[in-house]
Amino acid sequence: MTAYTSIGRLAERAGETVCLRGWLFGRRSGGRVIFLLVRDGTGVCQCVVEAASASAFAAAVKLPHECSLRVRGEVRLDDRAAGGVEVAAETVELIQGQEEYPISRKAHGIDFLLNHRHLWLRSPRQCAILKIRHTLIREIRRFFDDRGFTLIDTPILTPGAAEGAGSLFPVEYFGEEVYLAQTGQLYLESAAMALGKVYCFGPTFRAEKSKTRRHLTEFWMVEPEIAFAELPDLMALAEEMICLLVSAVLEGHAQDLVLLERDTAPLRKIVPPFPRLTYTQAVDLLHSREMKDKVEGDIGRACASLQENMLKLSALEAELPQAGKKWKQDKLTGEIQYVRETVREQEAFIEQSRERLKGAADFRWGSDLGGDEETLLCRYFDKPVIVTEYPREAKAFYMKRSPTDPRTVLNLDVLAPEGYGEIIGGSQREDDLDELMRRMKDEKMDPAPYEWYLDLRRYGSVPHGGYGLGIERTLAWICGLKHIREAIPFPRLMGRIYP
Ligand code: 4AD
Ligand code: MG
Repeated sequence: MTAYTSIGRLAERAGETVCLRGWLFGRRSGGRVIFLLVRDGTGVCQCVVEAASASAFAAAVKLPHECSLRVRGEVRLDDRAAGGVEVAAETVELIQGQEEYPISRKAHGIDFLLNHRHLWLRSPRQCAILKIRHTLIREIRRFFDDRGFTLIDTPILTPGAAEGAGSLFPVEYFGEEVYLAQTGQLYLESAAMALGKVYCFGPTFRAEKSKTRRHLTEFWMVEPEIAFAELPDLMALAEEMICLLVSAVLEGHAQDLVLLERDTAPLRKIVPPFPRLTYTQAVDLLHSREMKDKVEGDIGRACASLQENMLKLSALEAELPQAGKKWKQDKLTGEIQYVRETVREQEAFIEQSRERLKGAADFRWGSDLGGDEETLLCRYFDKPVIVTEYPREAKAFYMKRSPTDPRTVLNLDVLAPEGYGEIIGGSQREDDLDELMRRMKDEKMDPAPYEWYLDLRRYGSVPHGGYGLGIERTLAWICGLKHIREAIPFPRLMGRIYP
């Protein structure tokens, strides 16, 4: 059997003849030599095929884009090549492939890419995101494992709502209507009474009819739950975890972040302490002069940059008819597309900022902070901001009523900076049986499916709490993605279930 070397380890085999296998990522022809770019998931390697190796050369000429192939050849050190090595190909063998790979070098619309998500995943950009996602998940597990938490797998089929009846996905369960889990929290609370510190990490479902860049209908959430923890403990844990996750990605993914064109300066500022505000203070900030000045400053800067881009765009458009050579035309067309997109984004940002500012002035104490308010608040700070003690009516039934202000609950939301908004939602839980039953009655909830949950307040109730962190929102922020849909391998969005 042939032994294959993975591209990521080629440098260790300099001077030796090796066999590689993978997919054809790119090809350049230089007359009597063809350069094949082969990728295998561990890296990309340039394979040089000389016309002198007649059969390899003949095979290389015909290889279709993204075909699978085998290459045998000598590993040569070469500073100019990616990874510092290239392979002087002696044999090139097609495994399988056909012409007209659907995704070409030209820019595709987002619907086309999403319909070809199964192939789009092969792009370096998507691979970089998936690798960072993997690190995020591994580091989250490590974070809780290192601190004595026990992983608890909570059920996905559940009899009742936990985060409001409006976003439940019903499933027919032997003649009965049940729902896909919106959270593992309620079950986790019982495990916390058994094991003290626990967490669950699983898929979560919300039938949210929102087509925003922050919403998926299926997403992954990690939820710690801790017996005897109170609100300040939860804030400290969330802060420590976020800082650790960001630094793990910065340390382990420098190249991936470059590939994603992620400006890492804002990420380097993610160190404790995070600003902490109560909801009431957040509302005051939304109404404040400081907020108005900040947003108007942002709008001013965006307008100036928009002007520059408009000028750049006209210059590029004027240059296009005189471009001559095809490659030059293509290059210009690409640049024009890029600047056009930036212009559109800036125009949208300016308009939205103006609307948000109007909305903020009209915002009244009592409603939940929506996407617009969150955007204003999190753009105001350059670190994640922890907002606590929201109005009771705006939040879930299980949150503990504040002993100092009964209009509010002891909850926390963590809003990521740069406009990303809520990545964590959590609270101390109502541990008093009568108070919890009163709240459920106010919410017109049928107590029958929750009797087991009420038992936790009957037999050894203690203060406790936890939170949930959405993986895709966190990943979108750390990678600087414009939309959450790239943060999960196969996004489930309202109106999208294929592939
Ligand atoms: O604020 P949420 O709804 O909180 C809970 O589910 C609690 N039961 C968690 C707990 O206390 N154990 O959701 C928590 C996080 C949000 O902050 C967000 O990051 C993510 O889950 N999330 C979503 N992510 C993508 N798409 C959606 N539709 C999301 N809804 C919530
Ligand atoms: Mg929330």
